Amino acid sequence: MSEVAIAANAVAKSYKTGESNLEVLKHVDLSVNTGEFVSIQGESGCGKTTLLNVLAGIESPDSGYVSWRGSSIAKLGRNALALLRGGFLGIVFQSYYLVPEIDSLQNVLMSRRIAGGRIGSADIEEAKAMLEKVGLGDRCKQMPNTLSGGERQRVAIARALLTNPQVILADEPTGNLDETTGNRVMDLLQQLCGELGTALVLVTHNAEHAVRADRRLTLSQGSIH
Ligand SMILES: Nc1ncnc2c1ncn2[C@@H]1O[C@H](COP(=O)(O)OP(=O)(O)O)[C@@H](O)[C@H]1O
Ligand SMILES: [Mg+2]
Repeated sequence: MSEVAIAANAVAKSYKTGESNLEVLKHVDLSVNTGEFVSIQGESGCGKTTLLNVLAGIESPDSGYVSWRGSSIAKLGRNALALLRGGFLGIVFQSYYLVPEIDSLQNVLMSRRIAGGRIGSADIEEAKAMLEKVGLGDRCKQMPNTLSGGERQRVAIARALLTNPQVILADEPTGNLDETTGNRVMDLLQQLCGELGTALVLVTHNAEHAVRADRRLTLSQGSIH
């Protein structure tokens, strides 16, 4: 029987700007099982990134709650949450967010540093193996600005997976890539999550990528359909 990896329970979230109140998420129920691949589509500005931020515990909902492995994260303090997040989930962004001053290998190791670990030789070997898995085994010493967009996203995927997370949240991971490169990056992300048993929540505008999911969902008017 599969268990729930991550869930949003009756989540609502609005943003106040000056006088106005923008209700972005009205009532979101979403439950993603261990190892499951779920895609979320929706118009620009409908709240997809907001939903991923709430799922990641980066933003708090106004009402409702998020649970990880069946436990609510609502009452956790900032530090406890950050530590837990480091071991539980990986995030892949549209614009990669690599640290420009350090090489590929050190970028991959960042996730493990953030998860609170001291970096030893075993970690370095694992990070190299992860770069091998994404086809960049020979690029360990290369700086982000010398890599192509597709290569940068592959480094970001290796970074996200290094901590062996239960869940990957991917926010339009191929949005900045040309079609061929985007398809390759998507193949890789899907294949690695499948191999490692990692649940994947993919926000995408690409219908061909969305249909690959076990479940294809849409966010509109503040809830999931
Ligand atoms: N920090 C914020 N303050 C005010 N409004 C915000 C903030 N973040 C997002 N929004 C607004 O909330 C809506 C949803 O944004 P977002 O979640 O980024 O949408 P999507 O990822 O689906 O394009 C947009 O109208 C956006 O302008
Ligand atoms: Mg977005």
